[in-house]
Amino acid sequence: MELKHLFSPYKIGNVLIRNRIVRSATAENMAEVGHPTDQLINLYTELAKGGVGLIITGGIAVDPSSTFSKKGTSLHSDEFISSHKKLVDNTHDYDTKLGAQIGHTGRQSSNRRYESVAPSSILYPQTGRVPRALTTEEIKKNIITSFVESGRRAFESGYDMVQLHAAHGYLLGSFLTPYTNKRTDEFGGSIFNRTKILIDIYTSLRDEVGKEFPIIIKLQTQDGDLPGGLTLDEGLEITKIVYETGFDAIEPSGGGGDLIGSDKLFPSVVINSPEEENYFLPTVKEIRPLTENCPLILMGGIRNPLSAERFIQEGIADFISMSRPLICEPDLANRWNSGDHSPALCESCNSCYYSIVNSPLECILN
Ligand SMILES: Cc1cc2nc3c(=O)[nH]c(=O)nc-3n(C[C@H](O)[C@H](O)[C@H](O)COP(=O)(O)O)c2cc1C
Repeated sequence: MELKHLFSPYKIGNVLIRNRIVRSATAENMAEVGHPTDQLINLYTELAKGGVGLIITGGIAVDPSSTFSKKGTSLHSDEFISSHKKLVDNTHDYDTKLGAQIGHTGRQSSNRRYESVAPSSILYPQTGRVPRALTTEEIKKNIITSFVESGRRAFESGYDMVQLHAAHGYLLGSFLTPYTNKRTDEFGGSIFNRTKILIDIYTSLRDEVGKEFPIIIKLQTQDGDLPGGLTLDEGLEITKIVYETGFDAIEPSGGGGDLIGSDKLFPSVVINSPEEENYFLPTVKEIRPLTENCPLILMGGIRNPLSAERFIQEGIADFISMSRPLICEPDLANRWNSGDHSPALCESCNSCYYSIVNSPLECILN
């Protein structure tokens, strides 16, 4: 069987991507004081040579306090543009598109040199820290501006698109869920108000980068097993607002650091059998009719190329994205395209997830 849908080109905005396989954002812990290094360039070269159509970078910090790992990348000032440009130019040599994921760690920050900030002061048990609640003025002047400026820098670095990291309990995601957002101003309360920060960032960033540059989003649609967290019903309403705002593609996600230690570590779920694969498929099926022509990226436990082919063929999603399988096999897309349709070798053990705390991203199977 030929995987002709999985390996057909498709557009996000006006950006043509050679196939439907996306590397989902994955923190690499390979930067030097926020700058991409040759080690990171080599990783992206391997992924690009390995046939991935679009690489989304690991979370890039929009503020010095908010790197996603000790050696995470940054775009919080113009000084970072040239090193990001080198990374982008190199990846483009291999016909792979590159999206910059920009984010802020917020309540889940583990960087003790800075105070942690969040919509509300709710303890983060994994660090034992209680974040300071941002003032309305700070949200407007500092946070939204830092996202807009970092998005503009991603554009100037030559990235093909920018992705807002609005999931997994980090700052933007933490506005969406009633578990961490107890605000009573225009950024809290109703579902619309909780989503407003995304609308405000989108609108101002669009003014900066013009109509042609895709602004996509990795979006919290549910909190998983977190009592009092975001339900899928609310997540669907948020998705609709995000779609109507004009985002150019949506990658639905969920979960976050509060679930570390539970059986269901969303979004990086441990998979024990083929039945447990594709765990965001039910969510994406609900989202599809709400978002008409907006490209949808199905993420979470994609391991089998024949299933992936079917999801694309049936129009359930327009792209599939993978994180852990591509850490294990950066050349997975080429392997599948060459006719070897055996599932990804990744055992979803999550050792990669825990390894990036102290060392560069790697798979223990390699
Ligand atoms: C080591 C590691 C780092 C990750 N870093 C990010 C990140 O920076 N941004 C993000 O949105 N998701 C991140 N994720 C989540 C993945 O993008 C993905 O959503 C999740 O692992 C489920 O997909 P998978 O089954 O293909 O791994 C990370 C996951 C892992 C395992």
